[in-house]
Amino acid sequence: MANKFIADRLLQETVPLMSKLAGMTAGMDDLIDLSIGDPDFTTPAPIIEAGYKDALAGCTHYTQHRGYPDVIQAVVDYYKRELGVVTDEKNVLITTSADYAAFQACFATINPGDEVLIPDPSFLCYRSQVEYSGGKSVMVPTYEEDGWRLKAEIAEKYVTPKTKGIFISTPNNPTGACMHKEDLEGIVRLAEKYDLLIYSDEIYTWYSYDIPFVSVLSIPGAAERTVVINSMSKNYVCTGARLAWVIAPVQIIGAMVQEGMNMVYTAPSISQRMGKFALEQGKEVMAPIMAEFKERMFKTAERINQIPHLKVQSPPPGTFYLFVNVKETGLTDEEFVLKVLQDAHVVTVPGSNFGSCGKGYVRFCATVGLPKLMEACDRIEKLGL
Ligand SMILES: Cc1ncc(COP(=O)(O)O)c(C=O)c1O
Repeated sequence: MANKFIADRLLQETVPLMSKLAGMTAGMDDLIDLSIGDPDFTTPAPIIEAGYKDALAGCTHYTQHRGYPDVIQAVVDYYKRELGVVTDEKNVLITTSADYAAFQACFATINPGDEVLIPDPSFLCYRSQVEYSGGKSVMVPTYEEDGWRLKAEIAEKYVTPKTKGIFISTPNNPTGACMHKEDLEGIVRLAEKYDLLIYSDEIYTWYSYDIPFVSVLSIPGAAERTVVINSMSKNYVCTGARLAWVIAPVQIIGAMVQEGMNMVYTAPSISQRMGKFALEQGKEVMAPIMAEFKERMFKTAERINQIPHLKVQSPPPGTFYLFVNVKETGLTDEEFVLKVLQDAHVVTVPGSNFGSCGKGYVRFCATVGLPKLMEACDRIEKLGL
């Protein structure tokens, strides 16, 4: 993308193989795409109707900078009711997508040269969000043997006098790992010891299968040093609303509002109305969809483990991603992805795109129905890798 007008910060970024795959699928009519982190379900009608009804009633304008007060209250009530976390409306910001919320949090808190710890592997945007904000991302390894759970004692080895904060992501994309209470306690103690800020991405809240989801905010001492990010995208299968909520100390909320006012001004009003309904009543309407995701995940993990040389945690811990160990095939993760695309017309994502600890693993998304997931496995098995 060389062009004299492009900023250095973007020219320096390497384009992951994942972004190039789309251009290689032309003419593959029987393609099965397991690369997309966007649920295939349409958002349940009652959530859409709530936005529509309120839009007709006039909710089509800019809103208060932190969001509609009743949506803020719905976040406070939801964290109390569903997760046992007590927070206050002054600690909540309604904003535009978890992606932007994380960037906003980084931009509001990171000074040039600050280092931020990020689990390896994890969602690739964290690194850009830190680096666009002038910080340096420092990857902290996680391992299959630990169920990919981020361990405070490993993170501590990467702390330097410049470390400002640590990202945690539970359940994790791409590994599906769910942090246990003791993992979170370890991270909070580490953050206290070195005076770090915790950026906690909780957007897969309800995709936790092996243990009930635990928010870091339920750990004593976390609230004063944590920015929690959550959104409509996965919990309400509504990536298009681009709606997120943040819980953080008041000063950080203030700085994020200041930044947001200059960028997007307010979160979209109609999405906020959808969000209020979803937070209040969405769990019930989402139940069948969540059950289907769980079934897809469990059955696909079992099926993958029947394929010689492939191995995945079964039953899977969380999310709608399966992080498959392909090392025994003798191929690198990128070679595996290319081979499976070219010869089986199945699109997956190389684990190394999410960090160097992802080398030798491939992410499969259960964002297509079970028949297609089974067919993808059949086709891969036939390759005899
Ligand atoms: C871990 C994680 N965080 C954040 C996001 C972005 O979420 P949103 O659609 O709310 O911006 C994603 C999207 O896939 C994700 O996997």
